[in-house]
Amino acid sequence: MKLCHALASLIIAWLTVLGCIEAVTFEVKEGNSTCIKAELSASFSITYNTSNSTSTVQVALPDSATVDTGRSSCGTDGGSPWLVAVFGPGHTLGLSFSTNGSLYSIANLTLQYNLSDASIFPEANSSDVVTVVSASVGIWASINTTYRCVSPTTYRVGGATVTFSDMRLEAYMPGNDLSPTESVCMADRAGTTAPPTTAASTTTTAPPAPTPPGTPERGDYSVKNSNGTVCLLAQMGLQFNVSYVSKSQNKTVQDLVNLTPNLTISSGSCEASRATLVLTQEQTTRLSFTFTLNSTSSKYHLSGIALFANWSDMTAPFSASNTSLNYLRSTLGRSYMCNAEQTLVVEPTFSLNTFRLQVQPFGVTTSQFATAEECQMDQDQMLIPIIVGAALAGLVLIVLIAYLIGRKRSHAGYQTI
Ligand SMILES: *[C@@H]1O[C@H](CO)[C@@H](O)[C@H](O)[C@H]1NC(C)=O
Ligand SMILES: *[C@@H]1O[C@H](CO)[C@@H](O)[C@H](O)[C@H]1NC(C)=O
Ligand SMILES: *[C@@H]1O[C@H](CO)[C@@H](O)[C@H](O)[C@H]1NC(C)=O
Ligand SMILES: *[C@@H]1O[C@H](CO)[C@@H](O)[C@H](O)[C@H]1NC(C)=O
Ligand SMILES: *[C@@H]1O[C@H](CO)[C@@H](O)[C@H](O)[C@H]1NC(C)=O
Ligand SMILES: *[C@@H]1O[C@H](CO)[C@@H](O)[C@H](O)[C@H]1NC(C)=O
Ligand SMILES: *[C@@H]1O[C@H](CO)[C@@H](O)[C@H](O)[C@H]1NC(C)=O
Ligand SMILES: *[C@@H]1O[C@H](CO)[C@@H](O)[C@H](O)[C@H]1NC(C)=O
Ligand SMILES: *[C@@H]1O[C@H](CO)[C@@H](O)[C@H](O)[C@H]1NC(C)=O
Ligand SMILES: *[C@@H]1O[C@H](CO)[C@@H](O)[C@H](O)[C@H]1NC(C)=O
Ligand SMILES: *[C@@H]1O[C@H](CO)[C@@H](O)[C@H](O)[C@H]1NC(C)=O
Ligand SMILES: *[C@@H]1O[C@H](CO)[C@@H](O)[C@H](O)[C@H]1NC(C)=O
Repeated sequence: MKLCHALASLIIAWLTVLGCIEAVTFEVKEGNSTCIKAELSASFSITYNTSNSTSTVQVALPDSATVDTGRSSCGTDGGSPWLVAVFGPGHTLGLSFSTNGSLYSIANLTLQYNLSDASIFPEANSSDVVTVVSASVGIWASINTTYRCVSPTTYRVGGATVTFSDMRLEAYMPGNDLSPTESVCMADRAGTTAPPTTAASTTTTAPPAPTPPGTPERGDYSVKNSNGTVCLLAQMGLQFNVSYVSKSQNKTVQDLVNLTPNLTISSGSCEASRATLVLTQEQTTRLSFTFTLNSTSSKYHLSGIALFANWSDMTAPFSASNTSLNYLRSTLGRSYMCNAEQTLVVEPTFSLNTFRLQVQPFGVTTSQFATAEECQMDQDQMLIPIIVGAALAGLVLIVLIAYLIGRKRSHAGYQTI
């Protein structure tokens, strides 16, 4: 199975190189102005059930694919800009975008495929139209720049994978053509692979920061609901403690890596009793937090943490998750705060260190933190100065009393002489 996958990817890479997989251009317009333009090659790896086993097929996005103008939108009606490309009966690829004013990103990636299409899915034992969605794939760029990623990059979407290459796209476009300034993806910047195919342009994103040792910078993150109102707030410095097999050292190493807030975008969702915060740093790190509210007791806690990391020195992408955690406990209507460093153990191979943390995953009403419940460590640390102060005061008192007694004694002594 693994071999099959590897072979298939090899074939795709090879076809891409040969130019057999053509880049397709899509444009979403409103009136005469273009709001999304995308040139890309894509291929999909989809596993489906046959009557007695499963099959995996590789499907390339054909150059006959077109924009579904009915479902695509510029988002002027308050929704998010959405590009939906159709290829064949009931197969679609959807890219939905979001922005915070200075950056834009692909908010979700949707793949829909029609198992009754026997030319692609022979012997499928179902005729369903399957829709899979992946939130926060980590494709983002500065506004008024074109996102460029020539190198093939693979994203997992449900049980399928989508591989993009030769990608050049822009949403929230200021004009009708792709902006000349480009935001280049990590893979292109790092790589010796696939040089840009058009004239070189200035890149705007910062080069990957070297891992700073020491305390991580504190980031400010938030999640908005479909209304556009802030529903989750978080402020924290984050440090990963990960064990993985190092390429350069050919052995398992334990590495401390800080999350860089500048290079991180936040996304997520808020439901009545579940809230998630997803932090994506470039395409190499994705960290998600799940908070759970018990509406009976009005208490919430951090119940899940998941990390996906694909760092340059890793021999294989790292992933770890735990959905039965019980950290950061607080009460609905309050925020949770911990200035002291905390270590949240997720798996034996991964723990997360938090610094100067404050979160509120539920009951955010004013885009500001409600009164905080502080962690025990902060309370203990606040006690230390009090104890030290009390001890000092006690000492001064003892010295004073001793001095006074001493003085009285010597006084008395003089009088008797
Ligand atoms: C679109 O462009 C055409 C010709 O360039 C012009 O006649 C038409 O008024 C424009 N429509 C809008 C909505 O701007
Ligand atoms: C295959 O069938 C099993 C059992 O019905 C189901 O759980 C699984 O999701 C199916 N897989 C796919 C790819 O549809
Ligand atoms: C499914 O199983 C039947 C009998 O068990 C066999 O004859 C048939 O070849 C199998 N089909 C596939 C696609 O493996
Ligand atoms: C399809 O096949 C899977 C096993 O390969 C089986 O579990 C599932 O029930 C089948 N679905 C239908 C609709 O026959
Ligand atoms: C993905 O984005 C589209 C367009 O914004 C939206 O309609 C859809 O609900 C989103 N899906 C998920 C799971 O967020
Ligand atoms: C799925 O494919 C079948 C056969 O090709 C077609 O009749 C059907 O309309 C398709 N479904 C959708 C939603 O397009
Ligand atoms: C993007 O370009 C438009 C039009 O040129 C301009 O109005 C807008 O301020 C620019 N936005 C940013 C964030 O630079
Ligand atoms: C939208 O906002 C209103 C109040 O501003 C709130 O009552 C409602 O629950 C929000 N809807 C969603 C989906 O969050
Ligand atoms: C890595 O180490 C193992 C044994 O520890 C050795 O067999 C292997 O050849 C080494 N690989 C490289 C690339 O050095
Ligand atoms: C992060 O942002 C701060 C202030 O906005 C800036 O001084 C710093 O250079 C930025 N760092 C990186 C790596 O972009
Ligand atoms: C948008 O998000 C980035 C990364 O989180 C941040 O640096 C930037 O300040 C944000 N811009 C606005 C206008 O909020
Ligand atoms: C919610 O809290 C109540 C009271 O503390 C407890 O009995 C109940 O088991 C909790 N529910 C869940 C799903 O944890």
